[in-house]
Amino acid sequence: MRPVRRMLGTVLPALLVPAALLAATPAAFADPGDGGPRTEVVAHRGASGDAPENTLAAVEEAITQRADSIEVDVQRTADGELVLLHDATLARTTDVDDVFPDRASAPVGEFTLAELKQLDAGSWFGAGFAGEPIPTLAELVEQVGDRAGLLIELKDPATYPGIEAEVAAELGDPRPGVVVQSFDHDAMDRFAEAAPEVPAGRLYDARPGAAELDEAAGAGVEQVNPSFRVTDAALVEEVRARGMQTGVYTVNTETDMRRMLDAGVDRIITDHPGVLRDVLGG
Ligand code: G3P
Ligand code: CA
Repeated sequence: MRPVRRMLGTVLPALLVPAALLAATPAAFADPGDGGPRTEVVAHRGASGDAPENTLAAVEEAITQRADSIEVDVQRTADGELVLLHDATLARTTDVDDVFPDRASAPVGEFTLAELKQLDAGSWFGAGFAGEPIPTLAELVEQVGDRAGLLIELKDPATYPGIEAEVAAELGDPRPGVVVQSFDHDAMDRFAEAAPEVPAGRLYDARPGAAELDEAAGAGVEQVNPSFRVTDAALVEEVRARGMQTGVYTVNTETDMRRMLDAGVDRIITDHPGVLRDVLGG
């Protein structure tokens, strides 16, 4: 599958594919049946507006709010376990200051899984989430099953040499709706080597230009995922013309959600999947 995608990525830009063919680009999820384009609802770090980010509580809340897919951030412990956490340290989202006061500002990768499992990753968000643990990637995959897709971000993978192959191994055979992405595009090339069948995404802070989009298409990237702040209909069309899809982050107001829908994006990453679901009309 990947070689075909690589070939298409190289050829499509030159051909400027007809819209009808592009509309047939396989999406991770089925069309709702009304004939219109379907925009995926992706819960950012779980439903992180309503539950502590990157915890299984946020994952369950995302599913309750009818997210199609759940975005998480993956890092690695000192003993080689893959865990969900966004920041470089534990200070903001756990009680590390109480449990390991001398190491509160130490990097995530200096803690073992057993140590991380001693932390409370929920109380910072709300008392009702007290004791919520930091999950492993394996626990996430098990918990979600086939109830939603996963958008797995390799967070600062340069900090964790070899993490690309480890995530690939953890995911095993490709599963519908599971995508891996990163701001580190070299890491995504390594991931594609390790798991050529798993759809790959590239994140962008700044608006990608034509050369970057050509390069991404040539590398077999399926998802170009920029900040919504740099995204408009013209960019969506430039991405689509190269045979790729666009998912924007992190869109949290109804006004911005509607602007992105008007721009024609394929997926929206939001802290509030229920709000986006309502904007989409169910
Ligand atoms: O999925 C996109 C988004 O999560 C990237 O930004 O900082 O929330 O990981 P960040
Ligand atoms: Ca992320």
